[in-house]
Amino acid sequence: MSEHAKLAERHRRVVPAWVGLYYEEPIELVSGKDCWVVDREGNSYLDFFGGILTTSIGYGVDEFVEAVRTQSSQMVHSSTLYLIRPMVELAEKISELSCIPDAKVFFVSSGSEAVDAALMMCCTARRSNQVLAVRNSYHGRSFAAVGVTGNRSWSPSSLDPLSVSWIHGGDSLRGIFAGMDDRSLIEGAARDLREVIETTTAGDVACLIAEPIQGVGGFVIPPDGFFGALQHVLAEYGILYVSDEVQTGWGRTGEHFWGYQAHGVEPDLLTFAKGLGNGLAIGGVVGRASVVDSFAANSISTFGGNPLSTAGALATLDYILDHDLQRNALEVGRRILGQLAEGTASIPMVGEVRGRGLMIGVDLVVAGTTDPFPSAAGAVLEAARREGLLVGKGGLHGNVIRISPPMSVSAATADDGVARFLSALRSVSERMGERR
Ligand SMILES: Cc1ncc(COP(=O)(O)O)c(C=O)c1O
Repeated sequence: MSEHAKLAERHRRVVPAWVGLYYEEPIELVSGKDCWVVDREGNSYLDFFGGILTTSIGYGVDEFVEAVRTQSSQMVHSSTLYLIRPMVELAEKISELSCIPDAKVFFVSSGSEAVDAALMMCCTARRSNQVLAVRNSYHGRSFAAVGVTGNRSWSPSSLDPLSVSWIHGGDSLRGIFAGMDDRSLIEGAARDLREVIETTTAGDVACLIAEPIQGVGGFVIPPDGFFGALQHVLAEYGILYVSDEVQTGWGRTGEHFWGYQAHGVEPDLLTFAKGLGNGLAIGGVVGRASVVDSFAANSISTFGGNPLSTAGALATLDYILDHDLQRNALEVGRRILGQLAEGTASIPMVGEVRGRGLMIGVDLVVAGTTDPFPSAAGAVLEAARREGLLVGKGGLHGNVIRISPPMSVSAATADDGVARFLSALRSVSERMGERR
């Protein structure tokens, strides 16, 4: 039995069945450098998923490693009962980068906790437990985060601390807005929002929570201005707006530092996690002080903002800014998109290639339709692995390949990855053809 097979067997014995593993023969990644990772059996892969958009600046980056090494030799954890210098410094930077005036920052250890905290802040500020969420969204695994997650395969429970009403997202490929031009789609979504508020709520809704680009949902990208039109309606009712930037933050979309900036909106709160820590467990909420400060009772996240995660996050953020990785995400993302559009034009099971910066989705369909083809996506994932390439999978039906390498990926490495991906895609297309 291989080392991987042995570990997979032990994993299945002690880890919950619902913690999914990629691949028929799961792999253990043991080391990495830049965009490359090596598994326990010595195979190397080009990583085009970055630990789910989390390894933002790459593996083994000297500045990051040094910051973590130095901080871990001095003080790993003290708790927020004491002053933490890197936490304050990081909060100052994120407050300014958020573009929200006089913003305050609360640190936690994951995206789910960030979403939970943001929802509680809005509900407390508005004295209401009514929340608006978007179909096909993903916001995490805590009770409240699952409650605003509009994707059945990530919703293990219907119990919810909130009263949630659902609006349509900006999907122009499937659903009720399929095939609409941008303007009609935006107008339709604003009408839907108003109708949902009027018909399913008591009016005094706390907030809308939405991802600027639906990540787990398959990199579904609404037209620019979409959330601006929605905020117009929200403002009439005094409803707060939370932009969940767990996947879209830190310049990954290329054109903007935050996903919300494509929409002409002013969020009240932003949630963040993933890419900020380059793999360290850190998340948080940044937003208007009047909303963040709305708790009248004490609240603490014991690990939130600890010296180690904030020192590592500071090093990551400085690296992103010093090396202008947002620009790199824009340029390399366009390059990958262009090559994919050309390389997949003659592959019938590719329904759509879409993306912003380094969030790129390849939507696999039954040829000639928009019907999802999830088994093809599973086969492409396996074939890519055989080509030495790691990619992700998402979408409501699990039919979208997700490509999101570290934001530091070079043009040459991107070309290499695209070539591997196209080879995997072609082999699956030849094998599975137009089968369902
Ligand atoms: C948009 C969004 N929000 C929240 C989360 C939850 O983050 P975490 O898994 O760190 O709890 C995720 C995770 O994928 C996410 O994509």
